[in-house]
Amino acid sequence: MKKITIAIDGFSSTGKSTVAKQLAKHLGYVYVDTGAMYRAVTYYAMQNGLINKEIFNTEALISNLPKITISFKFNEDKGFAEVYLNNENVEKQIRTLEVSSFVSQVAAVSQVRKKLVEQQQNMGKDKGVVMDGRDIGTVVFPDAELKLFMTASAETRAQRRYDELIERGDKIEYEAVLKNVQERDYIDSNRKDSPLVKADEAIEFDNSNMTLKEQFEEILKLVNQKI
Ligand code: C5P
Repeated sequence: MKKITIAIDGFSSTGKSTVAKQLAKHLGYVYVDTGAMYRAVTYYAMQNGLINKEIFNTEALISNLPKITISFKFNEDKGFAEVYLNNENVEKQIRTLEVSSFVSQVAAVSQVRKKLVEQQQNMGKDKGVVMDGRDIGTVVFPDAELKLFMTASAETRAQRRYDELIERGDKIEYEAVLKNVQERDYIDSNRKDSPLVKADEAIEFDNSNMTLKEQFEEILKLVNQKI
């Protein structure tokens, strides 16, 4: 069977990664969570005092980029690859609301994007990949055979993210999560470099009222038309 590239883009917390992981597992494809890569760079910036509520030292971040290595290692128990920053597993640390509150500023820096996009293109060069993010169908793999653009109302998305954070044991308010989702959508959609836009040929998928099973089955039908 022919191996293809599946690009899944969309707004924050649209459930892209959940369906992408399931799809990759079913097809025997590699799954790449590109948001985790931007989050890991943000976590590095936070750990090294380059970004906080008062400062964002863009120049220092750019000059530190060669010192940042992002990698993925498959976790057999969890059934997906976890993200590593300079060989340290940071899967849990990068999912906090604090990282979420800075990540879109970091992701707007062209030099950061250039570094990560190159790595993403390399990871997907042999096809057989499901990659999710904001610019996969437009910039990383403009020739992807299947492009999806996921949407859902901001409230639905904030509720999903809130439930995930509460389940992890984080102490947060729903309103703060909603605000973060809306702010990230705004910055991601309005930045100069690779803004979040639907690729012309991407299939729009509003999953506000769909179960995971329904989404998976719909997407699988689309995949089967391409392979
Ligand atoms: O997908 P996730 O919500 O984890 O992504 C975190 C942030 O990383 C996004 O809000 C966006 O600022 C950035 N991002 C990006 N391009 C991608 C993936 C994520 O700019 N391909």
